[in-house]
Amino acid sequence: MVYNVGIKEKIARLKKQKNAVILAHYYQDEAIQEIADYVGDSLGLSQKAAATKADIIVFAGVHFMAETAKILNPEKKVVLPDMTAGCSLADSCPPDAFRKLKEAHPDHTVITYVNCSAEIKAMTDIVCTSSNALKIVNSIPENQPILFAPDKNLGKYIIKETGRDMVLWDGSCIVHEAFCIDKLLDLYKKHPGAVIIAHPESEEHILKTARYIGSTAGMIQYVKDHPDSTFIVATEVGILHKMKEEVPEAVLIPAPVEEDNTCACSECGYMKVNTLQKLYNCLEKESPSIEVDPVIRERALLPIQRMLTLSK
Ligand code: 13P
Ligand code: SF4
Repeated sequence: MVYNVGIKEKIARLKKQKNAVILAHYYQDEAIQEIADYVGDSLGLSQKAAATKADIIVFAGVHFMAETAKILNPEKKVVLPDMTAGCSLADSCPPDAFRKLKEAHPDHTVITYVNCSAEIKAMTDIVCTSSNALKIVNSIPENQPILFAPDKNLGKYIIKETGRDMVLWDGSCIVHEAFCIDKLLDLYKKHPGAVIIAHPESEEHILKTARYIGSTAGMIQYVKDHPDSTFIVATEVGILHKMKEEVPEAVLIPAPVEEDNTCACSECGYMKVNTLQKLYNCLEKESPSIEVDPVIRERALLPIQRMLTLSK
């Protein structure tokens, strides 16, 4: 999308005037990443949100990310450019059904992936992201059974890596489940020297082909560490912007998706509803803003803080 310089300047001026900070995820539109004060993965973004001195947090990402920032900063205003920026993974785990599963496993430690609602976090012992999931699971005593939600693909990957016995919620990400293994193998045949890197929300057969599996920040770091390579990248296509910026010499090929996918590439429709214009509007109007019920917030805060403490 092409924007005139005007809106970028207007955002910068308003941001200063209101003492606001713009936090953006790697899957955001390039123009948004370029004007953000910080671009990162879910862990980095929650660490920045916990540390900021700004009065307003403009969260250029999806709802659960902005909600996590609000839980950490109840006194601050947290605005999201478009309230419809949801997440299929978070939506796959409704609180009532999750409560039943938790009640059926009363002795289990509940670990939830950050891609879930505040209500789910309020029923959690400790939260994790894709960059610290193995560390968080390994921090739980070995004989302690675990209930993990909502991503079954990340859950299966953790079980494989740690050997832990975990009950899994049956949720997934529509973007990462769209990768097509046959097309990926055909692409690899055309680029036999390429290195496949994948996000752990991808399905097991995709992860089996990958030389590196990690969070968005981890994948970017891996490309930085191997600058002269060709990469087939199995995650949301927005990540290529930061990879190109950091390592211009690397050859980056997005992993192919199934024929019937709504988008020809791996775009997250939820992430992409945010635009520079909507970002300006939400900063100007200080709306739409994220609100979290105080009782839910208090319960959801502890498992997030436990994660942040373990991730220092
Ligand atoms: P990261 O924490 O790895 O950035 O993942 C967030 C996400 O939503 C992946 O789909
Ligand atoms: Fe949610 Fe998937 Fe989009 Fe990440 S890529 S925000 S998990 S729908």
